[in-house]
Parts: sequence; C-alpha cells; structure tokens
Amino acid sequence: MKKKIMAAIMIATMTLGLAACGSSKENAQSTSSNADQTGAETADAGASAGDNASEEKAQISTVTPGKLTVATSPDFAPYEFYAINEDGTPELAGFDIALAGYIADYLGLELEIVPVEFDGVLMEVQTKSVDIGISGLSPDPKREAIMDFSELYYMGGQSFVTTKANKDKFKKLDDTNKSNLEIGAQTGSIQVDLANIYSSSADIVQLSKVTDIIAELIAGKLDGAYIETPVAESYAKNYPDLCIALEVPYEGAEGAAVGVVKGNEELLKGVNEAIAKALKDGTMDEFVATANEKASGEIHEGLLDN
Ligand code: ARG
Repeated sequence: MKKKIMAAIMIATMTLGLAACGSSKENAQSTSSNADQTGAETADAGASAGDNASEEKAQISTVTPGKLTVATSPDFAPYEFYAINEDGTPELAGFDIALAGYIADYLGLELEIVPVEFDGVLMEVQTKSVDIGISGLSPDPKREAIMDFSELYYMGGQSFVTTKANKDKFKKLDDTNKSNLEIGAQTGSIQVDLANIYSSSADIVQLSKVTDIIAELIAGKLDGAYIETPVAESYAKNYPDLCIALEVPYEGAEGAAVGVVKGNEELLKGVNEAIAKALKDGTMDEFVATANEKASGEIHEGLLDN
C-alpha cells in the first residue's frame, strides 16, 4: 500500500517541470480551467470523492458539527493561492484547496476554509480551533507534539531562490553562509531551519508570507530565500527575474501531509482513506495539473494581500 502511494506521489511530482536559473518565461498554457478549486468561506466540496459508508462518518467529531474546518496559508502556489476569477474577484485555488474539498466530500462534511498566515495554521491546529491544516505542511517530527500527521500526499523538494542577476553568487550552499547576506524564510516554516543550518552566518529574515519573500527578492531587499521547490518554480514562472540557484537537502521530513488535531483518531483515519483514494484513482494528479495551470495563467495574482 505504502509503495503504491509513493509511486502515485512520484507521478504527481513529475508533472512539474524544473524551472532552473536561466530558463526563459514560459507562457501561460491555457488559463481557464473547468475544475472548481474554490473553497472560499463555506464551499461545497468540489471534487466528488465517491460514496463512503455513512455510519462511519457519523462518528467523526469536528469543531463545527457537519463541517470540516480547514486552516491554510494561501501564499503558496501551486499548493494554495489566490487566483483572480474571470469576474475579477480573488478566489482560493491550488491542489491543497482541491484536496480539502475532496476530503470533506469523502467524509460527508461541508468544507469551511480558514485562511491565515502559515504560523497561524500551526497555531489553529495546535489549539484545535480547526479540524485540520492543509498548507503544504512538512510532517516535521518537531511538530508531532502539537498535531498528528496524515500519510504524505505530495512530494516536493527544497530550494534556494535568488534573482537571475545574482545567481552566479550562489554556486554552492556554502556561498549562502556569509555575514553580508540577507536570507529570507517564512516564519514558522522548516525553511527557517534550513536557513539556520546552511546560512547561519547570514542575516536570516523571517517573513510571515511567502508572497512577501517573493516581493522582497524581486525588490532586491533579500539576497536569497529558502522556498519549497514547487512553489519556487511556480513563482519563477510568473516573476521571471527569479530563479532557483540551488537544490537544498532536507534531512527532516520531505513531502506534504495533512495536519490533524491531536487525538482525533477517527478524523485521521478518514483523512488517510481519502488521501489514499485520491492518490490511487488519479484525482490528486488532476488537482496538481489544474493547480499548476491556474498558477501559471494570467489570472494568477501571486502577491495579493490577504
Ligand atoms: N513545508 C514547509 C513547512 O511545513 C512550508 C509550508 C508553508 N506553507 C504555506 N502555505 N505557506 O514548514
């Protein structure tokens, strides 16, 4: 079972191309998509997860009965981000949002998304103000005291990102470890750990949103930043000044898992079943493809304030 899931994850990962430094801006393929990835506020679970034995579902307790309340930090394309609708309004998009809908549907619950900053996601799950966090969460062993983790649903590596103008300064990780450098990482993320491991001599700047890190990189206020590779690739497509200078080894826990409030065994079980189903039947691949397409389309607004 585990092997199969890993294989499915690998396939999902392979659908992302590698945007290395020097690659030119690829133009948006097709912008609109039919899959409804919106989950804003109270949304119906968009994807159909199929039927599930309803007696089992009844035993799952959630913070608001009948609802699955999900914290996410929508600064993280293609996982979760704001896309601009055809009518010009921002809407939540991304494969995490789609997966949230799928899980809610599988459990027979109504989806309620709570957008917060990333450290807020950790806090909401820890304090049990929500049921789950879906936010490209690394199942970092240090977090196991505050939440339970599902099985992995996606694999993505770690990158050191800079501008094309600066990429020659960073040929190896040690080049990031200099006292005159300002290196960004998102507050509360494992990227802060990476910065502390590889760039401890630099000035490590923690910002609460990845989109702020992107903006500071473009403005030349940061020399570089640690960012999850699929996210770095996605923003580098929209902001062609950016590029991935280095791949960064991460010894912790690669991949993304759903963070489930501690001790809700039935919910954890249901989430794992839904993930296994989405990986097996190709739904997750579809979610990833749609999210990538949406994130690289003209309608994508990466720097929206939330
Ligand atoms: N994978 C990293 C972590 O768990 C970063 C996740 C950030 N997610 C987000 N939506 N900004 O620490």
